[in-house]
Amino acid sequence: MAVQITPSILNADFAALGAEVGRIPGADWVHVDVMDNHFVPNLTFGPTMVEALARSTDVPLDAHLMIEDPDREALTYVEAGCGSVTFHVEACRAPVRLAREIRGQGARASMALKPATPIEPYEDLLAELDMVLLMTVEPGFGGQKFLDLVLPKIRRTRELMDRHGVETWLQVDGGVSLETIGRCAEAGADVFVAGSAVFGADDPDAMVASLREAAIS
Ligand code: DX5
Ligand code: ZN
Repeated sequence: MAVQITPSILNADFAALGAEVGRIPGADWVHVDVMDNHFVPNLTFGPTMVEALARSTDVPLDAHLMIEDPDREALTYVEAGCGSVTFHVEACRAPVRLAREIRGQGARASMALKPATPIEPYEDLLAELDMVLLMTVEPGFGGQKFLDLVLPKIRRTRELMDRHGVETWLQVDGGVSLETIGRCAEAGADVFVAGSAVFGADDPDAMVASLREAAIS
């Protein structure tokens, strides 16, 4: 299982996003949190901004859509240049169709679950997905406390992936830091989003390296 670190720009300087992304050349992906003020009580940016960001970096973009109606909006983010697009299952009307459409356009398709959403009803969808994102905070804001109660679900999701023999990545997002990343890795996560831990550090790229170390050891 290869460890990947995907810094979230939610806590970066929004007036200088191009420069901020330039501070994390060692990241595997840049995690972009798209919020519409409906699915979550916060508002960030849309496809035009994401497209500009994609042009400003060689690091691929990992879009996390916290929006109503991803069925209608998700492909816009593939067109904007994202290499991976994550939709929330709680907001999606037809996850199999949407995952197939995203893959059909050449991006990785990923499905996110809020902390209280169980994985078991979606077991048979795993083969349709390149990644599952398990939220380890309630979505909407950076800098929240990691929810330990999600750890058993990380473990169960990894077991289901192993049982089905799929190559699907398992991403965790929310409160991931040097203190919590080891627990997530031990439970079976292999892709780690970290927002405030990375952009709150004096040297964000060194923090990316430290998080990677901590996930491996
Ligand atoms: C929260 C976002 C996260 C957020 C993580 O809803 O999905 O990606 O930026 O920030 P931290 O790592 O500070 O919890
Ligand atoms: Zn996110």
